[in-house]
Amino acid sequence: MSRPLAVIVLAAGLGKRTKVRFPKVLLPLCGRTLLDTVLDAVAELEPVRTVVVLHHQRELVEKSLAARIGLTVVDQGEPRGTGHAVQVAMAELADFDGDVLVCYGDMPLLTAGTLYDLCEARGDAAVSILTACPPDPSGLGRILRDEDGGFCAIREERDCSDFELDIEEINVGIYCYDAARLRPALEQLSDDNAQGELYLTDTPALLLAAGERVETLELEDVDEALGVNSLLQLAIARSVMQERILEEHMLAGVVVEDPTTTVIEYGVTIGANARILPFTVIRRGVVVGPDCEVGPFSHLRAGTRLEPHAEVGNFVEVKQTTIGAGTKAKHLTYLGDTEIGAHANIGAGTITANYDGKAKHRTVIGDRAFIGSGTVLVAPATVGDGAMTGAGAIVRRHTAIGPGEVWVGVPARRLRSADDGGREERT
Ligand code: UD1
Ligand code: MG
Repeated sequence: MSRPLAVIVLAAGLGKRTKVRFPKVLLPLCGRTLLDTVLDAVAELEPVRTVVVLHHQRELVEKSLAARIGLTVVDQGEPRGTGHAVQVAMAELADFDGDVLVCYGDMPLLTAGTLYDLCEARGDAAVSILTACPPDPSGLGRILRDEDGGFCAIREERDCSDFELDIEEINVGIYCYDAARLRPALEQLSDDNAQGELYLTDTPALLLAAGERVETLELEDVDEALGVNSLLQLAIARSVMQERILEEHMLAGVVVEDPTTTVIEYGVTIGANARILPFTVIRRGVVVGPDCEVGPFSHLRAGTRLEPHAEVGNFVEVKQTTIGAGTKAKHLTYLGDTEIGAHANIGAGTITANYDGKAKHRTVIGDRAFIGSGTVLVAPATVGDGAMTGAGAIVRRHTAIGPGEVWVGVPARRLRSADDGGREERT
């Protein structure tokens, strides 16, 4: 972008309509919070400053942002409207000169491309405003225009006349201002309106009155304008975001047999020619190598890594586990905190008992190992390369099964060593 950019994200509101007990912007959306989703989109524009305006339950929101660098958090104090929120943020940007992009923390579907276009659309106008014509404009500010279609003002719904309520074009709530011209407009705001608030939406008309130009940009995809004010809207936003994520994988060569029943969060890596079968859930950060098969009904949780050609089937849950190349775990299995080598076979009903009630422990299974159906491996435990367990074996914790050995029974004991020519041992 040609000018330096600062971003202000408004997230001081209460979000009462969601009825949840934590801040609305922390609601989850495909593996990220609403606020993180917005911040990731604006980060693509490489702003020099990003200011997040918080107030209600500020500590919780701030904690969720701890891993992000270069953010400035300001506390609005008792929120007195979007205009007040931007006044507080601009105090942090007192020396800044350039574009100021204002967006809301509860609008997770806006894309970086749209935000970029809005900044470009400003040209030398004082502000550019994103507008849309959604099927149902109720609750939103309307865009008032003159007979020639020129922008006049934004009117909040509660302040609209009956005639104005029929206007289809609405204010999305995203603006790109010239910092130098925003400052004096903010000073002129008054709370003389139906809600007794300082409306940011009054600034464009104030700028016009001062002889400035105001640009508008209409959204092509109205989905992007969806603000999350309730859990119903969260569900709608989630399904749009899910579609986007699945589309990206499919275009990259991943077979998703039934996109309507597949959940893949943001930040999942899947190699080309992998097949994801119906009713599969893949959480953030999981890596699925090329040519793998996952599902139907698989659950891949955080820290899962599937090497190429690995296969995970129905009712298999995997967490903090690497599954080696060509290894199969096809049925009714839990693998947690486990490292599995290449070309192993994990029989139906295998369980790694990784949790002793206090701590999690690791299981290591070698290349070409064969874990018999219904085996329980109580961690920590090790199964060597090419070793085998019999069906129903209960391998006690701290057991180290050597390479090529065969262990059976409850509790499991060694039946054969690797080099005894197949003779059974007496134990
Ligand atoms: C706002 C716009 C409206 C637009 C709509 C789109 C104003 C006055 N109106 O209305 O024209 O159609 O968004 O969704 O801006 N916030 C603060 N501090 C405050 C008030 C709000 O940080 O003092 C934050 C909220 O947390 C929220 C966002 O600003 O993220 C929008 O506030 P909200 O009160 O929901 O405005 P709307 O009534 O939706
Ligand atoms: Mg709102």
